[in-house]
Amino acid sequence: MPVTLDLTFAFAVSLFLVTLTSPMTRAQQVIELVGDPQRGKIVFRSLGGCVNCHGWAADGKTGVNLRAPTGSNLRETALDTEILTEIIKCGLPGTPMPYHGRTAYRDDRCNEMLMSDFAPGSEPTRGKTFSDQNIANVVAYLQTQVIGLGEPTYTECADFFDNPAARACLSLK
Ligand code: HEC
Repeated sequence: MPVTLDLTFAFAVSLFLVTLTSPMTRAQQVIELVGDPQRGKIVFRSLGGCVNCHGWAADGKTGVNLRAPTGSNLRETALDTEILTEIIKCGLPGTPMPYHGRTAYRDDRCNEMLMSDFAPGSEPTRGKTFSDQNIANVVAYLQTQVIGLGEPTYTECADFFDNPAARACLSLK
């Protein structure tokens, strides 16, 4: 028993030292967050309002809110983790894609810009605000359950809503 405890302690100390001594920038540390796809699905489905523009299927068509701007097809995106994280955090200024990071444009970590750097009327749109962890979660959701899919199917729809009788899915049956 004492041996196990000692090892655990030594491991914890070494982890701590590794953390202390790694020359990581803050941006890199955020990317290192491990996303939970199931939590990310909740962000995508309800917390984030992503479905209004991208639709439940994230293809920019299926299930979009017709009164919202049309989002792009995330099933076909070629973006990597870093850029996906950046776009969700910072939005895409000049388009309807809103920013969701807590400190976006309040400090200069988004595109090295502050809100005051934008011309009046061309400021980036603000979406719901998420923690960095929730941004990692929604990225993990996109990467494991969205990107690379073809045309939306009934089964995907029923899974998305956790409900085989969801109204939005009936037309796909
Ligand atoms: C108000 C509408 C709207 C909302 C809400 C919205 N988006 Fe978008 N999103 C867009 C539009 C429009 C684009 C395309 C912008 C462009 O390139 O012209 C886009 C682009 C993106 C892209 C870049 C895709 C690519 O391949 O270029 C990602 C990733 C993305 N959105 C994820 C999300 C996520 C995740 C959420 C929710 C947290 C979300 N969006 C909420 C409208 C929206």
